[in-house]
Amino acid sequence: MDTTFLEGICRAEVEAISKLAPHLVEKIVRQGAGGDHTRMIDLVAEEAAISYLESVSFRGRLLSEELGEKRFGADDFPLIVLDPVDGTTNAARGINFFSISVALSSGALLSDVIAGAVMELPSGRLFTAEKWKGAFMDGKRIGVRAKSSLRDGLIGVDFNVLGNQQKMFEILPLCLGVKHIRNMGSAALELCYVASGGLDLYADNRSMLRVTDIAAAYVIILEAGGSMLDLNGNTLDCELSLSERISLVAGSEANCREALSLIYGKRLVTGKNVAKEINP
Ligand code: IPD
Ligand code: CA
Repeated sequence: MDTTFLEGICRAEVEAISKLAPHLVEKIVRQGAGGDHTRMIDLVAEEAAISYLESVSFRGRLLSEELGEKRFGADDFPLIVLDPVDGTTNAARGINFFSISVALSSGALLSDVIAGAVMELPSGRLFTAEKWKGAFMDGKRIGVRAKSSLRDGLIGVDFNVLGNQQKMFEILPLCLGVKHIRNMGSAALELCYVASGGLDLYADNRSMLRVTDIAAAYVIILEAGGSMLDLNGNTLDCELSLSERISLVAGSEANCREALSLIYGKRLVTGKNVAKEINP
């Protein structure tokens, strides 16, 4: 099983999404297992992914943002971690920046992810990685932008704090310390832009991301030579469960450390949670 299989899931979803009448894309159909509204585009994409898995006689488990967990036979692993559409709000508003994120894991933790694919939509560009085999965009090797300084850099930050002033104040020192900032609305894809050197860093301090948003990008970033750290400066890891809520910085190791020291000042010590010391 490799990224061809993950690519097959993406292509099946694209075919189904392309047949969806435009006025139905944003229709809310129910509450998803991940906690957000499931829109018609999410449902149609997820159902297409499931049909594909059945058509190739997949055996294992699926963890997907809308339906939660689905078993294909008795085995717990491999586990597919799927966000059928990452950036649904963009898709619903006709903003051409969203993606499909699908990862394959041999175990219960993020660090067990062995392959990932993120398809940029509507362009169809495909970011892929397999553990130990490197990261690619449409088959061409990619890598994080290693020798960059955040001061002259272009970073992605998720400002979607939903009124949480503390989170906004916490991230401000990083924003004030860089040249360019983007907030594009599909975390999976923005992380892939870090992997391909488009962004120097991606930061999300909101504790709102789910494993479905980041599992594929996790292996893509690592295989592109980058790091994904939690806000204490440790390599990010967590259970592959929809109840996890995640904050992270991703980029070259040096840029991640620089970002954390901009956020937390000189007080950052690896392993010590200093986030609580920040006052607006
Ligand atoms: C969302 C996107 C967005 C981020 C949200 C995520 P979804 O994913 O990744 O960039 O701000 O926190 O939930 O809901 O469109 O799959
Ligand atoms: Ca989603």
